[in-house]
Amino acid sequence: MRIRAALLFFCFSLTCAATGGGAPAAVATEQKVTSNGLALTPPMGWSSWNNFAENINETLLMETIDAMATNGMRDAGYQYINLDDGWQHYKGNRRDHPLEADPVKFPHGIRYLSDYAHSKGLKLGIYSGPGQMTCAGYTGSEGHEKEDAALFASWGIDHLKYDSCCSHKDAPKAVVQAIFGTMSKALLAQKHGIVFHACHCGWSDIWEWAAGLGINHWRIGQDISDDFDYPGNREGYYFDILDMIDRGVGLEKYAGPGHWNDYDMMVVGLKGKSADLVGAGASNVEYRTHFSLWAMVNSPLLASADLRHLDSDTLETLTNTEIIALNQDPLGKPAQRVRSAGGLEVFAKELADGSMAVALLNRGSPTADMTFNVHKDFNLPWTRYQVRDLWRHKDLGIYDIPYTAEVISHEARVFRISEIKADR
Ligand code: GAL
Repeated sequence: MRIRAALLFFCFSLTCAATGGGAPAAVATEQKVTSNGLALTPPMGWSSWNNFAENINETLLMETIDAMATNGMRDAGYQYINLDDGWQHYKGNRRDHPLEADPVKFPHGIRYLSDYAHSKGLKLGIYSGPGQMTCAGYTGSEGHEKEDAALFASWGIDHLKYDSCCSHKDAPKAVVQAIFGTMSKALLAQKHGIVFHACHCGWSDIWEWAAGLGINHWRIGQDISDDFDYPGNREGYYFDILDMIDRGVGLEKYAGPGHWNDYDMMVVGLKGKSADLVGAGASNVEYRTHFSLWAMVNSPLLASADLRHLDSDTLETLTNTEIIALNQDPLGKPAQRVRSAGGLEVFAKELADGSMAVALLNRGSPTADMTFNVHKDFNLPWTRYQVRDLWRHKDLGIYDIPYTAEVISHEARVFRISEIKADR
């Protein structure tokens, strides 16, 4: 597998210095960076990796930009078109090669693409990493962080995914902080704002310190696979959709406007057909559950299916603006799992207008009647409340008793509930 194979080639200079008796902690204490003021709500967009891996080029990217601008996604809030690994010209160590775009895949260069994205009201993201090589073996940014940040800014890049390829699992936190802090500082020095994604497999307790280094989102786990609930981890590495949701429990408090837990690019609509990503695919109900939960927990919403050929179910899922509103709510409070028993789980979060979002998740096989109680589950003093179903797009009525819904296998029913004040 490409990712783990690449680790063999990795040697970050800071770590090599550290293991060779250098002083990484001193380096880390110099990493005083402030927020870039970006990503006040989780970034929404598309990333090339899950479906296309290294098989990316200018035509694909321009067609994807066109698709997002016209298929309803841009109007629903999606903005970023992110090039992942494989845009670079050279494979091999950075010390042996410059960082430049592959002239065959991208004949007009990257600035041309970002101008095109901007002309359509969208933004362009790019990918690099702190090693000599990226995970797929292309030249990385090690030792050239300032130069690369300036290059990306000169290309009009709006988002950078900076990937450690799951290396440095057991390195001192100061070393990892220095690695990501160096690039963050270099990005912050640019006039053009660039959202910064630190991709580090959810290691080094990154959620505890990332926001302080100006990082806008950080992966909470290893790569997602295109599965709803695969027994164990595929290839001993991948997380399925439910694994990722479990991984995030307890991390909610670290996220907020400008800094988010990242549950990985979505697999909605891949259907087990990705050229690169492992997994058997999921049903439409399961993909809806995936989308709903990513929205509830305020993960970035980065689609990865081929936007040029979306089926109607996938497009309907990705453009459900009532679900997206939970993710983009200005309060920026991720949902908590408030109850979990026998595979039946209740997630809830506060919203800026005083209403609550509630998701009832049935992880099991039999259909279940699931109930929430606003007093006991959410500690709310409400006596009467309105229930709106965000997948059926329907107001379901006003209640003064606990609310019960039928939830089929692997479904998440999602509701917005609002207090009905006594004088109404
Ligand atoms: C992995 C990363 C993936 C993708 C890939 C590219 O480490 O988790 O999301 O970016 O590298 O080589």
